Amino acid sequence: SAESSTEKELTFAMIKPDGVSGNYTTAIKKIISEFGFGITNETTVQLDEETVKDFYTEHSSRSFFPGLVRYMTSGPVLMMVLEKANAVADWRALIGPTDAQTAKVTHPHSIRAMCGLDLQRNCVHGSDSPQSALREIAFFFEKSSLGFLPKHDEL
Ligand code: TYD
Ligand code: MG
Repeated sequence: SAESSTEKELTFAMIKPDGVSGNYTTAIKKIISEFGFGITNETTVQLDEETVKDFYTEHSSRSFFPGLVRYMTSGPVLMMVLEKANAVADWRALIGPTDAQTAKVTHPHSIRAMCGLDLQRNCVHGSDSPQSALREIAFFFEKSSLGFLPKHDEL
């Protein structure tokens, strides 16, 4: 509704291992701030296999799954809860298409075009719907009186 479009919304964003190791964190955070998102929480963690398999469970039967798990456990990731009106759709629009090679052609100003390498190593994650955002935030963060606290050990 027109009413809800001005209400703040949360989404879950992650800078994947190639984004962190390629030193894109500062550039990505600059974009986040320029586009009016607040970062309500962030934590850097080294994900283990079980956690990645759980997080991406919807893709568990796909042929790319083992490679995805290997990639997502290859180094630390930076997880963030982003807040603004229309955060879910706006963050998805900013990161661009899944395949970073496609992104470089069709969405050259997108984050995946800037720092992604290919279909697997696409440097960032964004929730695909408000429902996914709630699941993903709850998957990684504990709601407490202080806000969200990370469920996993921080680096
Ligand atoms: P998906 O949810 O389809 O993409 P998105 O991250 O844009 O929501 O897939 C999850 C991740 O799985 C994707 O970011 C990269 C990886 N992946 C592959 O490695 N190969 C593939 O063919 C697809 C579709 C995804
Ligand atoms: Mg997805």
